[in-house]
Amino acid sequence: MTYETLIVETVGRVGVIRLNRPKALNALNSTLADELRAAFAAFEQDDGIGCIVVTGSEKAFAAGADIKEMAPRSFIDNFSANYMANWDSPARSRKPSIAAVAGFALGGGCELAMQCDLIIAADNARFGQPEITLGIVPGLGGTQRMTRAVGKAKAMDLVLTGRMMDAAEAERCGLVSRVVPLAELMDVAMTAAETIASMSLPAVMTAKELVQRAHELPLAEGLRFERRAFHALFGTDGQREGMQAFLEKRKPQFNRA
Ligand code: CAA
Repeated sequence: MTYETLIVETVGRVGVIRLNRPKALNALNSTLADELRAAFAAFEQDDGIGCIVVTGSEKAFAAGADIKEMAPRSFIDNFSANYMANWDSPARSRKPSIAAVAGFALGGGCELAMQCDLIIAADNARFGQPEITLGIVPGLGGTQRMTRAVGKAKAMDLVLTGRMMDAAEAERCGLVSRVVPLAELMDVAMTAAETIASMSLPAVMTAKELVQRAHELPLAEGLRFERRAFHALFGTDGQREGMQAFLEKRKPQFNRA
């Protein structure tokens, strides 16, 4: 498939999606959202892919939803179409994803990064939810995922003032897992993705699902769900190979089934 707004490639077992609307700082429009869904679906179905990296340019991961596309919309347009309800490909995907963020990750851009399972930021990254300055509120999870990620105090600060935070602050408050020099961003993100993709895929997909559930379930339910999943993985080739390799003092070779 050819894409208008994305550059999509496969590197070993890693699927790489680069947002590519440079003139609009990678603002998310309906075409980009549709293409993101198609790219994720293709990687999801591909047994050769174990992890997905989403990235942008050095200047912008994405500067938000496309304001030019949104400006003329009415309430009824949005309500009837359930606008943006399916702009959540990384969150829906059962395979893990890494957002490799350089430059602006604002509004829908910050929300897209938060839909990924972890965020690795370049030292020039800037995060924010500036929707309030446009007379609206975040619509792709900015009030919900941000609050769960960084807590109420910081989330209120960002969502109510619309200010940006730099990479160091984003790491301090737990939004991003690592901050690296801009020149090393893709190497670090790809190495992390390759590591994840080298594991047993059922274990990786289960681990992602379990950590996601930690945000949604009461602790007792989450612990029960985790134990069931832990039991179930003993039915996989991955468990047999992983433990046998440890006992034989060799590296495991997962066949991903
Ligand atoms: N939508 C559409 N176009 C955008 C855009 C966006 N979100 N962000 C930037 N652009 C465009 C600009 O209009 C400009 O295009 P033109 O040259 O045709 O005018 C181009 O990208 C370059 O932008 P700037 O000249 O503004 O670049 P800058 O370096 O001076 O500023 C910036 C960068 C601070 C990110 C600034 O562009 C900005 O504030 N952008 C908007 C950020 C924003 O408000 N995002 C939230 C959108 S709402 C949302 O996302 C809702 C949701 O929850 C889903």
